[in-house]
Amino acid sequence: MDKNQDMQNIAVVTGASSGIGAATARRLAGEGFHVVVAARRADRLDALVKEIGPNATAVECDVTSDDSVAALAAAVAALGAPVTLLVNNAGGARGVDPVATGSVDDWQWMYDVNVLGTLRVTKALLPALEASGRGTIVTVGSTAAFTPYEGGGGYVAAKHAETALVGTLRLELCGKPVRVIEVDPGMVRTDEFALNRFGGDQDRADSVYAGVREPLVADDIADCIAWAATRPQHVNVDRLVVRPVAQAAQHKVHREQ
Ligand SMILES: NC(=O)c1ccc[n+]([C@@H]2O[C@H](COP(=O)([O-])OP(=O)(O)OC[C@H]3O[C@@H](n4cnc5c(N)ncnc54)[C@H](OP(=O)(O)O)[C@@H]3O)[C@@H](O)[C@H]2O)c1
Repeated sequence: MDKNQDMQNIAVVTGASSGIGAATARRLAGEGFHVVVAARRADRLDALVKEIGPNATAVECDVTSDDSVAALAAAVAALGAPVTLLVNNAGGARGVDPVATGSVDDWQWMYDVNVLGTLRVTKALLPALEASGRGTIVTVGSTAAFTPYEGGGGYVAAKHAETALVGTLRLELCGKPVRVIEVDPGMVRTDEFALNRFGGDQDRADSVYAGVREPLVADDIADCIAWAATRPQHVNVDRLVVRPVAQAAQHKVHREQ
């Protein structure tokens, strides 16, 4: 950490090696946080830290591993500054199978990363967030967290569960100095989300956004996260749903020919 800014507040962003997480890390560093960027791909994290400069620290972390998350919490504690913000962003979707032929492996992966990953990291950092006296947890859900769609079963189930975790946590922390926020994006064009969902098939990934004039981009969600996290501490934005104008609802997307 920058020695001249010893008591800079720390923000931890999971899934910061790409997409929404990387954009959020850049944005939060610009807001004055020292940003701890966490994900599995260390090379990408190192490149991001190089870009952001002294206001960022990279920690390789797999949110599906208890040991890895414990090491993240230890690395954050070693920075010796107040931890005031956690952004639970690591997550993703695998597959578009109908429930009738759903892959148990894919469903398990989605539950582990999106739900249990959020549980692990939240548990590990909650004591520090509470000790700061002004903690904020922002969890990136999805519009899939409240609207099912065909072929989305495993992701929809995981994001619904993530919302249940967030809502329960907000109740349990009532009276404590930690606010709990959920940001639920609709269609966001990031480099890897749809590509991972379709097992690396770029054409299928591109078809998700075909004809949509202006899907959201990662910076749009980073903007929402930063806005919600920088409101005065007594203001809790419980849940922020954000979609591109062309997506009026999960099933109502305007596509130009
Ligand atoms: N794009 C959309 O349309 C959209 C819409 C609604 C919600 N979301 C949600 O927004 C979040 C970010 O999505 P995105 O579009 O930015 O996708 P992305 O570019 O694929 O980013 C996913 C991030 O999660 C990390 N990650 C995956 N597994 C991990 C693990 N086991 N441990 C630690 N990190 C892990 C990845 O890093 P490593 O591979 O380096 O670990 C990557 O940085 C996700 O929670 C997603 O469900 C996305």
